[in-house]
Amino acid sequence: MRAIQIDRFGTPDILDVVEVPEPELGRGSGEVLIRTVATSINPVDDKTRDGAIGEGAPPLPMTLGWDLAGVVVDGGSTGLRPGERVIAMSHQLSTGRGTWADLVVLPAQAVAPAPRSVSLSEAATLPLPGLTALQTLDWLAVEPGERLLIAGAAGAVGGLALQIARARGVEVDALVSREAQVAFARDHGAGLVTTDRDALRDRHYDAVFDTFGAFVTEAVTDGGRYASVATQAGPVPDLSSRGVRTTVNQVREDGAGLTELSELVDQGSLRLRVHAAFSLHDVRAAHARFRQGGLSGKITLLF
Ligand SMILES: NC(=O)c1ccc[n+]([C@@H]2O[C@H](COP(=O)([O-])OP(=O)(O)OC[C@H]3O[C@@H](n4cnc5c(N)ncnc54)[C@H](OP(=O)(O)O)[C@@H]3O)[C@@H](O)[C@H]2O)c1
Repeated sequence: MRAIQIDRFGTPDILDVVEVPEPELGRGSGEVLIRTVATSINPVDDKTRDGAIGEGAPPLPMTLGWDLAGVVVDGGSTGLRPGERVIAMSHQLSTGRGTWADLVVLPAQAVAPAPRSVSLSEAATLPLPGLTALQTLDWLAVEPGERLLIAGAAGAVGGLALQIARARGVEVDALVSREAQVAFARDHGAGLVTTDRDALRDRHYDAVFDTFGAFVTEAVTDGGRYASVATQAGPVPDLSSRGVRTTVNQVREDGAGLTELSELVDQGSLRLRVHAAFSLHDVRAAHARFRQGGLSGKITLLF
């Protein structure tokens, strides 16, 4: 079968489509064999290929990829049936199980039904950013009527967090990077939308969801909550003297969370965005486009 692998670190032109042995289902182990239809590129894939992860990355050669939308080939003992449309997130860095391959074996707990109302190409944009948004909002524990600031609200994680928070009845304001993103945030229910962080000073948000390491700590109220997912930006400054709880949240495999996300899509509460779709044979061009930035949705790869 085909897999997108790297055997060294570097720019997108080190990416190759190679032939590798098909993975085997461990009988009775609660695993499922999935045929990949589509996947998407996340910042972690770019950093992994680049060698920016350092120690802790799987050994070379490695198959890349966290997101997966596909069809069950063999559900083993899990109850999943052949032909079911599914989505999954594989924690590629900790398990080495990359999703950019024709066939992928994953634990059933990492798999969920795909949304019925969108294509598998669109569904492939959901797992990693969706779970990051959902799990971080759960940590922030924002209640209906509370006020949340999302920094990077038009990005992959931020755009989904905005929509999930609005579906939960939370008031959301948005910090975005450029004028083109203002309309997106407004259209998806944000109140105040700004490119100027000084406009957020003293607005006393109950919670802040920081997707790019903005550290707009002056915007959170005393006793509030501040979560970053920008691991590379380092820890959130210590705000304990103001009674503010802080975290740098790390996404986890979570089939139940994916089921919740699929339902939100099918209810019309979560709209997914594909900026451009590439064939897996054009993976180098896909990575180059991802690195260029200025995106208004995800880059997907079609198998
Ligand atoms: N901890 C975890 O488990 C976890 C999970 C998922 C993602 N992450 C990390 O979270 C980050 C976001 O991921 P993503 O997939 O959402 O990336 P993304 O789609 O690139 O979103 C980042 C957003 O932040 C915006 N932004 C960047 N700098 C800004 C600035 N100075 N002012 C205002 N907005 C700014 C970007 O705007 P532009 O498009 O204009 O640059 C973009 O809209 C990445 O660093 C990723 O590695 C961590």
